[in-house]
Amino acid sequence: MGRAFVYVILGGGVAAGYAALEFSKRGVSNGELCIISEEPVVPYERPALSKGFLLPEAPARLPAFHTCVGANEERLTPKWYKEHGIELVLGTRVKSADVKRKTLLTATGETISYKILIIATGARALQLEEFGVNGSNAENVCYLRSLADATRLVEVMKSSTGGNAVVIGGGYIGMECAASLVTNKINVTMVFPEAHCMARLFTPKIASYYEDFYKSKGVKFIKGTVLSSFEKDADEKVTAVVLKDKNHLPTDMVVVGIGIRPNTSLFEGQLTLEKGGIKVNGMMQTSNTSVFAVGDVAAFPVKIFGEIRRLEHVDSARKSARHAVAAIMDPSRTFDFDYLPFFYSRIFSLSWQFYGESVGEVVHYGDFSGSTFGGYWVSKGYLVGSFLEGGTKEEYEAIAKATRLKPVVEDITELERQGLGFAVAV
Ligand code: FDA
Ligand code: NAD
Repeated sequence: MGRAFVYVILGGGVAAGYAALEFSKRGVSNGELCIISEEPVVPYERPALSKGFLLPEAPARLPAFHTCVGANEERLTPKWYKEHGIELVLGTRVKSADVKRKTLLTATGETISYKILIIATGARALQLEEFGVNGSNAENVCYLRSLADATRLVEVMKSSTGGNAVVIGGGYIGMECAASLVTNKINVTMVFPEAHCMARLFTPKIASYYEDFYKSKGVKFIKGTVLSSFEKDADEKVTAVVLKDKNHLPTDMVVVGIGIRPNTSLFEGQLTLEKGGIKVNGMMQTSNTSVFAVGDVAAFPVKIFGEIRRLEHVDSARKSARHAVAAIMDPSRTFDFDYLPFFYSRIFSLSWQFYGESVGEVVHYGDFSGSTFGGYWVSKGYLVGSFLEGGTKEEYEAIAKATRLKPVVEDITELERQGLGFAVAV
């Protein structure tokens, strides 16, 4: 049993949705393109799962957040794919790939062949078991990667109203879920090994602003330690979390956000890997010329850093996917991907954006007791990273533009004095 397509997108997440839009804009014929996804629904904007989806009032639900609404583009519903002649193989896991033969074998036993493959398999959430803790399959322990995870999280939250939650991890998932839990009237304790939240990006000063804000909403922080085990009742429900420092936290539910691992395993030994991802060139092309990789799974040359990096953010997934399709459909007019890393988050009433890279010396600016402040990262005499909380659209555009231009910073004290004005004037 088998089917053949010109183009196959493996994975049905954010990158797949934006690739499909780009294919349709550039013109694919009926039946030329197929998307294979383990998820049972067409691509959606994954960031909604830790934000609007978790709201107690008027939560976001599909079909409202199918791609590509996140970039103010068309909303690609199942009907859209049908009308555009794009074949969908949903709820189907690909269990092996043969890049020499250009075939994929699905868990249902079907062989799907392609002329060009785009790998958009994203990543999976790391499990506590990978850190030596057992029992995270309990019904009230939640991870968050897929719509199915988010649906379960909502159910567990509903049954924990007025109770306690322990959030393991102080990264993006931890911070966004903690805010959502509080909004759902659940008492939250966050536990993470670092000295402050969002340790990969925030400076201690920036982190302390957000931690103070969370504390004002009742969130407790236990830092510098990790979980060692769960206590469970007769129904195997977690009733308490035990930490390495022997702290014992009674709880009604647990949310775990301890990082991700890119889904590369189908291609290990077949394609070149780097930085934990599938290595691609500036056209998003892997070590096999018929295979492209995009989104969280791709390690690509980030021109502004002069280095291969893997980025785990939605803007990069959207743009790398569109770039790969441009490179496939119109190679002579497509240049190397020139991407400025962009991260953002929205929590409670707060909202921040970051552009570039968080390395080198940091200067802070603005009013840390108010609602608009930020930081600049300066490395080897150049501005390489910019952070802003509470900015306007124009101000965010200004820090993005300034970071892309990588201006020389002659005097750090002067940069600090000028603050946001520096970016606006660049
Ligand atoms: P993505 O994970 O979206 O899709 C991968 C797809 O491949 C999935 O459908 C998966 O089922 C499928 N797949 C994998 N292996 C398969 C196989 N063998 N067979 C078939 N299908 C397979 N970023 C940001 O910048 N701002 C934000 O606010 C957020 N918020 C956010 C919230 C939450 C809850 C999560 C989990 C993530 C974010 N992100 C984010 C990160 C962002 O969502 C992420 O970078 C993109 O979804 C990456 O898009 P991809 O298409 O690469 O992977
Ligand atoms: P993360 O890498 O942001 O944070 C992981 C956190 O796990 C670390 O900060 C650390 O505190 C903690 N940790 C690591 N090992 C631990 C251990 N053994 N025990 C306890 N804690 C431990 O990853 P995440 O928060 O899980 O997010 C998953 C993915 O989702 C990332 O790719 C992220 O970019 C994406 N995401 C992004 C956004 C956003 O950009 N706004 C929002 C949600 C999710």
